[in-house]
Amino acid sequence: MHKVLIDTDPGTDDALAILMALNSPDLLIEGITTVGGNATLAQTTENALRLVDYAGGGRDVPIAVGADRPARGSFSYAYHVHGAEGLGVDLPATTLKTHRADAVDFIRDCASSNRRRLTIIALGPLTNVAAALDGRPDIAKAIAAIVVMGGAVQVRGNITPHAEFNIHEDPWSADAVLTSGVSVTLVGLDVTQRTSLHRSEGPPWIKGTSKSARLGNRILEGRFRERADVREYHLHDPLAVAATIEPDILTCRRAHVSVVKDGEERGRTVASYGDGPVNVAIGVDVERALEVVRTLISS
Ligand code: RIB
Ligand code: CA
Repeated sequence: MHKVLIDTDPGTDDALAILMALNSPDLLIEGITTVGGNATLAQTTENALRLVDYAGGGRDVPIAVGADRPARGSFSYAYHVHGAEGLGVDLPATTLKTHRADAVDFIRDCASSNRRRLTIIALGPLTNVAAALDGRPDIAKAIAAIVVMGGAVQVRGNITPHAEFNIHEDPWSADAVLTSGVSVTLVGLDVTQRTSLHRSEGPPWIKGTSKSARLGNRILEGRFRERADVREYHLHDPLAVAATIEPDILTCRRAHVSVVKDGEERGRTVASYGDGPVNVAIGVDVERALEVVRTLISS
C-alpha cells in the first residue's frame, strides 16, 4: 500500500490517471492538489472536484487549490490537446468544496504527518511541489519520493523540440524539485510516448461497463474525434501512476538532472548519469504498463 498525494492539472490524461488511482487497491490517496497548466487553475480544480465526486465512490479525498501561475510568468495552457475546459467531456456538476488549506500547506501537512511514507505523484507543472519544498529542508526529508511525469531526456520535446510541457511551463520550479535531493523518478516522454492507446484499437479502448470505464472511453473518444491528426493517445500521466504501483514497469538510470531556465532550450532536462537523486526512466515494459492502465480504469 502506497500513501500518495497527487498534484495535477486535469487535463484528460490526468483524469485517466486519477481514475486509476481512485480504483487502485494499492494506493491510499491522502489528497489531491491542483495547479494550472493544461487549463486554468479554476478549471483544473473544478475538473478534479467533479472527477472525485463522479468516480470516487463517495470517498472523502481532500482537494487543495494550488498555483494559478508558474514561479515566473504565466501558464500557456493546452486546450488544443485536452479540449474545452481541459477535459473535452462534461461531468455532472458537484457540490464538493475544496480543502480549507491551500496546496502548499496541504503538501507540507501531509508530508509532516506521514513522515517518510508519502509519495507525491506530480502530473503537472511543479509549481506547488517546489513551493512546498522552498526553505523547508524538513519537508524534503519527510517526503519519501516524488514520481514526476515530465521531461524529455533522450528524446525530442512535445511543446518545443527541447522540452516537455510540464517542465517547460515552470522550469524554475522543476529545477528546484529535481535538485532538492528528494528521491525523484522522472517519467518523461522517453517512456510515455511509447505507452499509448491507438485510434484503431477502439472504441472501446477500455473494457467493461463501470462508470470509470465508460468515462475513460468518453474521454478517449473525445480526443480522437477532435484530433483527426492523432493516431495514438500517449498515456503520460497514467504511466506515472502505474509506475508508482509497479516500479519494475520502468527501467531507470540514476542521474543528477538540471533544467534549462530560459532561451530557446527553456525547459530542457539535462541528465548527468552516475549517481544522483533522480531515477531517469529510460525503458518501459509497455505491455505490463498498458495492462495496469486498462485494468484500473475498467474497475
Ligand atoms: O507533456 C505531457 C504532460 O503535460 C501531461 O502531464 C499532460 O497532462 C500535460 O500536463
Ligand atoms: Ca498533467
